[in-house]
Amino acid sequence: MNATITTTARYVPKNIVTNHDLEKIMDTSDEWIKSRTGIHQRHFVGENEATSDICTHIAKSLLEKRNLSPDDIDIIIISTVTPDMLAPSTAAIVQNNIGASRAWGFDLSGACTGFLYGLETGAKFVESSQYNKVMVIGVDTMSSILNLEDRNTAVLFGDGGGGVILEQTGDNSGIFDSILKMDGSGGPFLQMPAGGSRMPATIESVENKMHYIRQDGRTVFKFAVKGMADVAEKILEKHQLTGDDISLFIPHQANKRIIDAAANRCGIDSDKVLINIHEYGNTTAGTLPIGLSEADDTGKIKNGDLLLLAAFGAGWTWGSMLIKWDTLS
Ligand SMILES: CC(C)(COP(=O)(O)OP(=O)(O)OC[C@H]1O[C@@H](n2cnc3c(N)ncnc32)[C@H](O)[C@@H]1OP(=O)(O)O)[C@@H](O)C(=O)NCCC(=O)NCCS
Repeated sequence: MNATITTTARYVPKNIVTNHDLEKIMDTSDEWIKSRTGIHQRHFVGENEATSDICTHIAKSLLEKRNLSPDDIDIIIISTVTPDMLAPSTAAIVQNNIGASRAWGFDLSGACTGFLYGLETGAKFVESSQYNKVMVIGVDTMSSILNLEDRNTAVLFGDGGGGVILEQTGDNSGIFDSILKMDGSGGPFLQMPAGGSRMPATIESVENKMHYIRQDGRTVFKFAVKGMADVAEKILEKHQLTGDDISLFIPHQANKRIIDAAANRCGIDSDKVLINIHEYGNTTAGTLPIGLSEADDTGKIKNGDLLLLAAFGAGWTWGSMLIKWDTLS
């Protein structure tokens, strides 16, 4: 018995920030950002808008699309590195916002691979037959941890997310298999040093801009192409599949050049690769579920299609997942 995705939804904040907007506040150009990353714009939250607000939009859409009552939900899993606060969890805030009084849940930190970690975790609960309906949301409000003086990093990210409801499926469909990886030696290359127990907030930590995400872009780039392509190739091989058997490849959206290189290595034609980085930038745990929901809503995928998902991110974390599409929405 596999877990299947029966419903998808997404939400991005209304406020659009174009590359030209960034040109006004940092030493960058629309031409550089487009040609080096493929990003044209991103969405940033408005004042008083936070991760749980994005999640609440997504959760309500999921319930409405699947015609469920909040009490039907057993577990809420929120994959994010930008929770509203460290305690309580964003899952608890969302549970209260939507009135899912029967649900328990938790936040899960897997950076850009967070949605795959969340799906795998949620699927195991469903497959255990102890829980019927698990809501998994991948979301990030990256604008809350961006240093707008750091052009190497700030231009890449945006805010938003998406989610799914996982349920049991009786037949040979749903989440087939996954390969998930982690290598903590990559930590220093992509991190937000302060704000946790290692470096609690002090005047110095704030003045030294330690509460912002920072990275070694070139090292991340190399790891990303190799990591994402390695696991995607491996999962295809394991099931005696080739790129031709895949109906749609949904890769993490961090850089168009990373996506092209990974798809190329896996032998997947460019017309089968979902790309929306130009609209949203890198929404961290949000990219995969936003892509999945767009593909679902626009009829890019139909029941029986084989989907390949792949992601990489801070940690290092990376992974790939095979899904036979069987949504009911
Ligand atoms: C960050 C990234 C876009 C940089 O692209 P790149 O082609 O490797 O560019 P480089 O780092 O070699 O920098 C080239 C030049 O552009 C400059 N540059 C960097 N950011 C710039 C910006 N936003 N605007 C204009 N110039 C910029 C650099 O300072 C450098 O100038 P220099 O040659 O005078 O030193 C790319 O490395 C990348 O996407 N890495 C992965 C990052 C990522 O995905 N992180 C999240 C993972 S989940």
